[in-house]
Amino acid sequence: MLASGRGSNFQAIARAVESGFIPATLAALVTDRADAGALAIARAHGIEALCIDPHDHWGPEAHEAQVIAALDERGVELVCLAGYMRLLSGAFVKHFEGRLLNIHPSLLPAFPGLHAQRQALRYGVKVAGATVHLVDEGVDTGPVVLQAAVPVGEDDTEEALAERILAEEHRIYPEAIRLFAEGRIVVEGRRVRIRETA
Ligand code: GRF
Repeated sequence: MLASGRGSNFQAIARAVESGFIPATLAALVTDRADAGALAIARAHGIEALCIDPHDHWGPEAHEAQVIAALDERGVELVCLAGYMRLLSGAFVKHFEGRLLNIHPSLLPAFPGLHAQRQALRYGVKVAGATVHLVDEGVDTGPVVLQAAVPVGEDDTEEALAERILAEEHRIYPEAIRLFAEGRIVVEGRRVRIRETA
């Protein structure tokens, strides 16, 4: 898992692995910030926690190369981004093609990029939500795996909406990873088909 901040999605996923809901092991948490809350969560769950700080490297390519090496060394089959605040290069995306997931706090393709909840409130939509998607070279543009909708209240603040969306994020991200681990995600161009269990 790659995260830069609080790590609540990471925690939801770690719990889902521990409970057996996700039939896989969580190899490591990699963060680009020494102050990421996700680091403490990883340690509390006995998951290897690595901080690969971009300031220790000569440029983004060298930093990314070390992240790729760390993931490859651990033999990861799936890389999950959860609030990882760095743009990934085309080379990174290509390296993990088809096995790189992200969670975004909007019903994509609406409101990609930063502050999705603020964008939704400003636009005035009545329904917001969360999306788990495969990562391609664009910003929040890859094929959609799962989505969940939440209503927007007339007096919603950004914080209240974010919290309501987050509850859904914590539900659908583990669900999407479980589907991946079970080999049930089939990508057909932009469309993702979820195979029924045998
Ligand atoms: C989440 O809202 C996620 O959708 C977005 O960044 C936030 C990360 O939160 N990509 P957390 O670190 O998982 O608590």
